[in-house]
Amino acid sequence: MKSDVFNKPARLKNPPNLGDYDEVCRSFDWRSVRKELDWFDGTKINAAYNAIDRHTQTWRKNKVALYWEDEAGSTRQYTFEQLSLLSNKMGNILKDFGVSRGERVFIFLPRVPELYISFLGALKIGAIAGTLFSAFQEQALADRLGNSDAEVVITNKELKERIDKVRKKLPALKHIITVDSEDFIKSFEHVSDELHIAHMDPDEYAFMLYTSGTTGKPKGVVHVHRAILQEHMTAKWVLDLRDDDTYWCTADPGWVTGIAYEILGSWSCGVAAVVYAGRFDPKRWYEILAKYKVSVWYTAPTAIRMLMAAGSNLVHEYDLSSLRHMCSVGEPLNPEAITWAIKTFDKPFHDTWWQTETGAICIANYPAMDIKIGSMGKPVPGITAAIVDDQGHKVPDGNEGNIALKPKWPSMMHTIWRRPHKYESYFTGGWYISGDRGMRDKDGYFWFIGRADDVIKTAGERVGPFEVESALVSHPAVVEAGVIGKPDAMRGEIIKAFVVLDKKYLRKRFRESVGFPESDKKALREELSQYVKKHLAGHAYPREVEFIDKLPKTRSGKIMRRILKAKEMGLPIGDTSTLEEY
Ligand code: WTA
Repeated sequence: MKSDVFNKPARLKNPPNLGDYDEVCRSFDWRSVRKELDWFDGTKINAAYNAIDRHTQTWRKNKVALYWEDEAGSTRQYTFEQLSLLSNKMGNILKDFGVSRGERVFIFLPRVPELYISFLGALKIGAIAGTLFSAFQEQALADRLGNSDAEVVITNKELKERIDKVRKKLPALKHIITVDSEDFIKSFEHVSDELHIAHMDPDEYAFMLYTSGTTGKPKGVVHVHRAILQEHMTAKWVLDLRDDDTYWCTADPGWVTGIAYEILGSWSCGVAAVVYAGRFDPKRWYEILAKYKVSVWYTAPTAIRMLMAAGSNLVHEYDLSSLRHMCSVGEPLNPEAITWAIKTFDKPFHDTWWQTETGAICIANYPAMDIKIGSMGKPVPGITAAIVDDQGHKVPDGNEGNIALKPKWPSMMHTIWRRPHKYESYFTGGWYISGDRGMRDKDGYFWFIGRADDVIKTAGERVGPFEVESALVSHPAVVEAGVIGKPDAMRGEIIKAFVVLDKKYLRKRFRESVGFPESDKKALREELSQYVKKHLAGHAYPREVEFIDKLPKTRSGKIMRRILKAKEMGLPIGDTSTLEEY
């Protein structure tokens, strides 16, 4: 594929952590980097200990680990030692509640320091930590807490109300810890800050995240303590983190990026991290970059496009000269975003590719390697990636196929919670099949083409159409719904719902016999959109709703979202031989 190339090595001021990609790949073995981490008796490990506590044995003890700021401008900061002691306390609180190894502790908090402290505390006692976006509403919470049989939820007063509403559906839930309640604050003050850190087998479960596929409810992707090895190495090689860096990852720990590169891999490298607990706002973002002299920045394409839309003049009001290295993840990084960055910041964004299931970056552009603008880069040393057909056979370079990885890599998921068959369905012919389509060029660079399935990526968030369809049909006006991702210049995709309405309901509510005027339709479209927002999640609602008489379906009754999408985009609808008469 022909592309612009951004020539790198000539521009590098300091040698990067990964100097010679080809050389490292040639002789690489994961065992050779084991010593980057601290092990107990050479065989056991704890990911949280590696992220935080081990630094307290070194000069980093009093180094700031976390600079925290909220939307209103309140700030807090914590050293590695403080995070170590506070997470010890949280571990002891959980123990006092009777939490033991392997039990699920879910954290339902906005990006407050207590979120990070809770996550670390849970891992330290060998519990499995789960994270939940604070945008989640009742249905999303009930699905995730129900499937995981979570024993404990850590939340705040405001969000607790949503848990209370679904609590009767959660028989396994024993305790709700409310971090801003007087009771909690008092017991946290008094609880010991000494904790015996659980020595875990590298393959014992550490954390889980729910993510969406095409069908069914979200699935619980389970990761083990060993994952931190790849998270650490990629934070070092790809994000190029160094001791004098101030690093800002804009992701929320409800998303795998926020766990791997805001807690585990990044802190394991001993870096000072910034967390901004506010909504996206170009002005505030530039303020944060300038105020904390951020040198390494990890963000996502939608945010970059929104910054582009805010204009270059705004950027020039801030001194961003500290920025050394910038990376992106989560959705295709369009070439315009890279060229804009080169023009505006005098450096490109480095695209990185991975998934909740892969646990860490697997394909990336490295500081010392030329960027083919529009490409995701090359596999991380130690990772074998290929383009394969549906049977798992490699296809020749330049041809489209499935982006696949050779199992196992250190941060590979270990199971899908209580759905072993689902887990097995990821593997074909000795390959992990990612669900993404792509191409490898003759120089070994990988290019993203699209999803192989109906999974929606809106503003970087992964949304399953089935979840949105289920939420819609629980509204009395809706008989059936088909949901797709509609291409959008800013958000990558937006969620669009095609809805078949219940005639009886319409007659009753709108006296449809006398017509169903446009104003009523408009109101109902808005109502359905808000209904999903209120019941499912603040980010997973349809921005567009269209009423339709009938949904295209296969003869076996499966909704053909591909046809809805083709029609929406004015494309040919392709093979319809399996289609019910439509
Ligand atoms: C998409 C995100 C294009 C892809 C860490 C993948 C990307 C899904 C890229 C995983 C990229 C991620 N270019 N698409 N650089 N990175 N994706 O699980 O479709 O939320 O399968 O994890 O995001 O999304 P997830």
